[in-house]
Amino acid sequence: MKRGIFITFEGIDGCGKSTQAKMLANFLMEHRIDVIITREPGGTPVAEQIRKILLDRSHTEIFPRTELFLYLASRAQHTYEIIAPALENNKWVISDRFFDSSVAYQGYARGLGMKQVLDMSLMATGGIAPDLTFFLDISTAEASLRMKNQGKILDRLESEREEFMSKVRDGYLKIAQENSDRFIKIDGSNSPEIVWEKVKNIFTQKYPEFIEK
Ligand code: TYD
Repeated sequence: MKRGIFITFEGIDGCGKSTQAKMLANFLMEHRIDVIITREPGGTPVAEQIRKILLDRSHTEIFPRTELFLYLASRAQHTYEIIAPALENNKWVISDRFFDSSVAYQGYARGLGMKQVLDMSLMATGGIAPDLTFFLDISTAEASLRMKNQGKILDRLESEREEFMSKVRDGYLKIAQENSDRFIKIDGSNSPEIVWEKVKNIFTQKYPEFIEK
């Protein structure tokens, strides 16, 4: 059955994926593609409540498996309420993070197992998976610098050590090795405009039929 196309953005905290997700959404709208933009954890009222639990810095006692199940719960709700109906209605969906975040953060960096977390995520989404994923790769040093420059108040996860982010990055690099068709690594260390040129080029090569010349 024909359905819309599902695109996700991934990367360590501070990699700039939210900006690129918005730029792609604007580009698609300019080409008269009906698109919605959403994010994880969150995306629906129930999922946003779960997000609050996850990102509350006072919740230092959240156990890695509890954390995983909360992300999965948020994702299940988000997928059934927002993503699946949109795709069925032939809309495109852009999500700022999706299950690769769980595979990299919980599966790899927290050591719960990449394959197992992927299988659990697919159960949560009823088999729905992205068609294309942009992984914006930056070093942990660059990420910390950006967050400091933005004067960002660190949430529970962001205040964790750079070491953890370095593991997350390794997790993403492993996903990239194993999913080279869908999961595209892009150097995210340049300005948003330069990164956007790369995102746009890859997108246009993959879906030329949707873009008027
Ligand atoms: P996000 O709001 O995207 O933060 P940022 O804009 O700083 O990237 O994500 C919040 C945090 O949740 C981020 O540290 C990554 C983490 N996360 C997981 O650990 N697993 C997941 O499955 C998801 C979706 C996010």
